[in-house]
Amino acid sequence: MREGKGFKSTFGFLMAAVGSAVGLGNIWGFPNKMGSNGGFAFLLIYLILAVLCGYVVMVGELALGRKTGKGAIETYQILSRRFKWLGWMATLSPFLILSFYCTLGGYCLKYVVLNFGNLIGASWGTNGLSGAEVFSTFMTNQSEGVIYGIVFLLLSVLIVMGGVRGGIERFCTVGMPALAVMLVVIIIRSCTLPGAAEGLKFMFMPNFEPLKENFFGVLATAGGQMFFSLSLGMGIMITYGSYLKKEDSITKNALTIMIFDTIVALMAGLAVLPAAFALDPNGSKGGPSLLFVTLQNVFDNMGPLGGVFGIIFYALVVLAAITSSISLLEVIVTHFTDVAAAKGKGDKRKAYSLIAALAVSALMVLVCLDGLGSNGLWVPGQKLVDGVWTITATFNDCWLDFLDMLSEGLMMPLGALFMCVMISLELKPRVVRDEVEASGHKMKIYGYFKVCVSVITPLLMLLVIGGQIREFFF
Ligand code: PFF
Repeated sequence: MREGKGFKSTFGFLMAAVGSAVGLGNIWGFPNKMGSNGGFAFLLIYLILAVLCGYVVMVGELALGRKTGKGAIETYQILSRRFKWLGWMATLSPFLILSFYCTLGGYCLKYVVLNFGNLIGASWGTNGLSGAEVFSTFMTNQSEGVIYGIVFLLLSVLIVMGGVRGGIERFCTVGMPALAVMLVVIIIRSCTLPGAAEGLKFMFMPNFEPLKENFFGVLATAGGQMFFSLSLGMGIMITYGSYLKKEDSITKNALTIMIFDTIVALMAGLAVLPAAFALDPNGSKGGPSLLFVTLQNVFDNMGPLGGVFGIIFYALVVLAAITSSISLLEVIVTHFTDVAAAKGKGDKRKAYSLIAALAVSALMVLVCLDGLGSNGLWVPGQKLVDGVWTITATFNDCWLDFLDMLSEGLMMPLGALFMCVMISLELKPRVVRDEVEASGHKMKIYGYFKVCVSVITPLLMLLVIGGQIREFFF
């Protein structure tokens, strides 16, 4: 544990870890991926993967982090001879993720402003346009996209500069419960719209047809989503584990984080999908614009109160996104501040937070300018056909999808796979058990953990990675 620098309370740690897990992945990603991957079938695979892989990897990461008391890079360097490099891969993912995460966070900020405009009847409100029209106009306004992205990134940096206790813990302890309350209000609205029952059926009525049609596609998308949503496979839970006290239970904390994360994802699904079915039965039920188009239509249909609901909702999504983006930045910043402190250079947190943000902003501006592929920018893998950049695979729809494919699709499952191999073959699973039991409680799930970490989780990871490669390239 990092003496004196960690979380003040276990509740603070939990809120920060839940804050990292719960974010755009749950509120934006889960409904839109569930919508385009067969509803119930996606949910089923997601839950199976969370239990067999997510939980196991989370326990492993928290335990390794607490054992060394260091960030991801040092943890792998200290613990392993063969996997020393893994920490660096784990630190590259947050860079890629942050670039599109801040872009999306910026979109949410824009929607707070938009709904405020609606509330006061300003010209910068929706102005009678449909959700889809407003969104596509915004996507082609490149300078606006960049400005909102930068504002979002700046907000995240300011909090990380405040450090773990002053910034992250205080921010998450209030924000997370507030988000849950707001989601309940929107679910009630969405599920009581005429026609919403179709959306509920889509989510919960057993239907295995999508699995027969495209099993690997659903598996790959659900697997990537699970890693992204639980913040796994890239060192964040190692970093947060390093702040955990010896007396805290790793297995219980991991379970709590997973349950909260899954509940919020389901709540977001309930807030968005029934509304998507109710408002436009023949329209698209998935895709990146769902959160911005469908829910904005819900708010616009609520009369004068819609503006208020819209402001509160998107503000809370911004908050959930910030609690995640600060954890992404924290992975990068922790390493460099630790190294500087070890060399006796003092506390360099503020300087490194700024440098990391500058590096992220370069890629982020590109994602913002791309506007989800609305502005004709070249995306890796696209070919020029008759003077037009043409999509050749699902990942090169836009820069966001491409970076999402690299991070959530490949690097996170690979990071988790190698961590499992390291634990089962090099360190041996008892290293994790000893760390878990350092809290004074027996690790009751040790047998389960051992079988999963050595066999089941790596195999499923291979299937997920294989599915991603097949989806993207063939
Ligand atoms: N889990 C976050 C979400 O669902 O939005 C995203 C994320 C945060 C991914 C932190 C990875 C991470 F390390």
